[in-house]
Amino acid sequence: MVWTPWDWTEYPAAQQPDWPDPVALESATKELSSYPPLVFPNEVRSLTEALAGAARGRAFLLQAGDCAESFYDHSASSVKRRLKVILQMAVVLTYSSGVPVIKLGRMAGQYAKPRSSPTEKFRDLELPSFRGHIIHDDAFDVEARRPDPQRLLQAYDISAATLNLLRSFTKGGFSDLSQVHNWNQEFVAASPEGERYEVVASEITRALKFMAACGIDLGAERALGQVDFWTSHEALLLGYESALTQQEPNTDSFYDLSAHMLWVGERTRQPDGAHIRFLSGISNPIGCKVGPKTTTSELIDLCSILDPKQRPGRLTLISRMGHNQIREVLPPLVEAVRKEGFPVVWACDPMHGNTFVSDNGFKTRRLEEVLDEIKGFFEVHRALGTWPGGVHIELTGDDVTECLGGSAEVMMEELDSNYNTICDPRLNAKQSLDLAYRVAELLIDN
Ligand code: PEP
Ligand code: CO
Repeated sequence: MVWTPWDWTEYPAAQQPDWPDPVALESATKELSSYPPLVFPNEVRSLTEALAGAARGRAFLLQAGDCAESFYDHSASSVKRRLKVILQMAVVLTYSSGVPVIKLGRMAGQYAKPRSSPTEKFRDLELPSFRGHIIHDDAFDVEARRPDPQRLLQAYDISAATLNLLRSFTKGGFSDLSQVHNWNQEFVAASPEGERYEVVASEITRALKFMAACGIDLGAERALGQVDFWTSHEALLLGYESALTQQEPNTDSFYDLSAHMLWVGERTRQPDGAHIRFLSGISNPIGCKVGPKTTTSELIDLCSILDPKQRPGRLTLISRMGHNQIREVLPPLVEAVRKEGFPVVWACDPMHGNTFVSDNGFKTRRLEEVLDEIKGFFEVHRALGTWPGGVHIELTGDDVTECLGGSAEVMMEELDSNYNTICDPRLNAKQSLDLAYRVAELLIDN
């Protein structure tokens, strides 16, 4: 059957909100369809090309950002802090391992969340679970949790504003490699991770001076002055995604122009479901989460639907197994995908299989377990001779206390001191840098 952007409506769609007013939803969606694209097909294609490099073992994907972005947290300084930590991690990875790093934010559109349970309870009140600011508010009261279609338009506006900032930060002077010291945030600089980063930054500055002294015109080198930074989010709310999908003039290709890359979550990737139907027809690079219960036949089905032409860069499989399972469950999946010839990027999400609730009631993760899952991921790929193509991390540029551990250790009893996430616990800037160093070491040993 010929694919169209809206034909997913004929398939079962998991994790969609109960919109109370279908007429209001239709009118918001119609308005959204008339808006200009947030990203452009040529940018999307350049990400596919970069990912093709990772599929061939010549690049490494760093996909990172909030679990759920907040409508209340898109100030220039907040966006800049998130960008800084991702740029820092990329510098550490590139400088230490010599492998080009693809920088892909979970940013400028990550507003919809799948939930394990449709409702949540606090004391005597049971309400619909929080599904992201694109749907409703996170406050725990009946009115706040009512899905409001006007939020689709707000999500578009905030994405546009965030993308505008990202474009100016990454294409203007801020991302110039000569600014490498300025990406170290004040509260990080004095920490062991920050000091270690300063050493790398100073070496880069020295190398730049050396090149300038040799007569190389650094100002003319685009790669030193600008950064390619792409955006991604979970393609969960299908009406929003379809409304922003357009056919490229004079071609057969459709692009979902809400972000460069879209991924499908663990709870919505049924091969015969609406999400996979939608993603199968767009030309963007696609990510697919792969949890510990995935069977090889299900995974091969997904690869066949999402990447029938076996094009490098089209499909990134994001494993999220949990640190104590990855070494057993990942190898048969990697082998099956290789045997069938799918040139995927394998990336490791070490966050979602390692979440637990602490004794004092906080959803959290241990940095040590996060790092152990990444180590297991590298071990599996090394044993099979395949390329560990990237990591997928939930982080923030702020000094939060949401995940346990790190060299400036966050202890269980400190979790409540700066626990700000509206969904899953994120690594803070120091823990993120720590992780980048550990990944760099694994890449060097690989
Ligand atoms: C997520 O990436 O925030 C998420 C919900 O992941 P998963 O679908 O892997 O559970
Ligand atoms: Co999450």
